[in-house]
Amino acid sequence: MKELNCLHHITLCTGDAQEDYDFHTRTLGMRSVKKTLLYDGKVPIYHFYYANADGAPSAIVTSFPMRHTGRMGRRGGNQIKTLMLAVPRGAASYWLERLAAHGIAATLTERLGERRIAFTHPCGIPYELVEVDDDPRRGWDQAGVPLDAAIHGLHGIEVTVRDADVMDDFVREAWSCERGVDEGATVRYAMGAGASGSLIDVTAEPDLHQGTWTFAEGTVHHCAFDIANLDLQREYKAYVEGLGYTDVSDVKDRGYFDSIYVRTPGGALFEATVSKPAGWAVDEDPAHIGEELMISPQFEQDREEILEIIGRVAY
Ligand SMILES: [Fe+2]
Repeated sequence: MKELNCLHHITLCTGDAQEDYDFHTRTLGMRSVKKTLLYDGKVPIYHFYYANADGAPSAIVTSFPMRHTGRMGRRGGNQIKTLMLAVPRGAASYWLERLAAHGIAATLTERLGERRIAFTHPCGIPYELVEVDDDPRRGWDQAGVPLDAAIHGLHGIEVTVRDADVMDDFVREAWSCERGVDEGATVRYAMGAGASGSLIDVTAEPDLHQGTWTFAEGTVHHCAFDIANLDLQREYKAYVEGLGYTDVSDVKDRGYFDSIYVRTPGGALFEATVSKPAGWAVDEDPAHIGEELMISPQFEQDREEILEIIGRVAY
């Protein structure tokens, strides 16, 4: 079965909430499409969702600012390493200037035939802005970045693995990918026609120490992939389990989508998710999504108590 369409979202464990919000919305010019809390556990942690103009699958970056928990992560092997975002062809020079003006060191590089700007989130997670031609996804031009440079959405992820062979088996057989080009220790895999937003680059780094898998500051927690509906998701879970990857989770209601998770043999946590029909408007006026904090259902404390714990963020 090759039923996964593209990336849906990528989720990071970051540091300070205000710093994370400012980095995504003010420096990168992304749109806030939802502010809620992590749906797992009893300690309240923000869950911020950032996207392009439409907030559609393949264009969503989400974060758990972790600083108040004191849990620091370790970047390393068998983990998602780099988040790649697509920008219009020719936008690299704009971004070099903009990032420098925001105090962020960035370099222009080329890999797999693509021009890209490499830099890091303030918590240390590597980011790349990759120039892409003819991307139909709409950038968001209401946060200071003009349309001809605005982020279209996710381009892909880079996963670092200690053994590339078992990850090659997994992404081709279980995760809807075809093998594509390679360069050095990196092999590119893609879903469907291989458009921007559907790419997984697997890099073999056998000497890297194992990275953290828990929710912990400074690491990528997981990447989600889009699947069309709940029936297909149920069939896909059975298919992946039937290959022998038996630790696929039950369906978890994430408020805005329904998700299953699997720990890949390359270590990274992957998710297959179905967007709810109402999307971001399930609990907010569609004209004002992402403006107010939506408290997730497992918390019994009131809003003021929660804000005391997680800290107040100026939007
Ligand atoms: Fe997720």
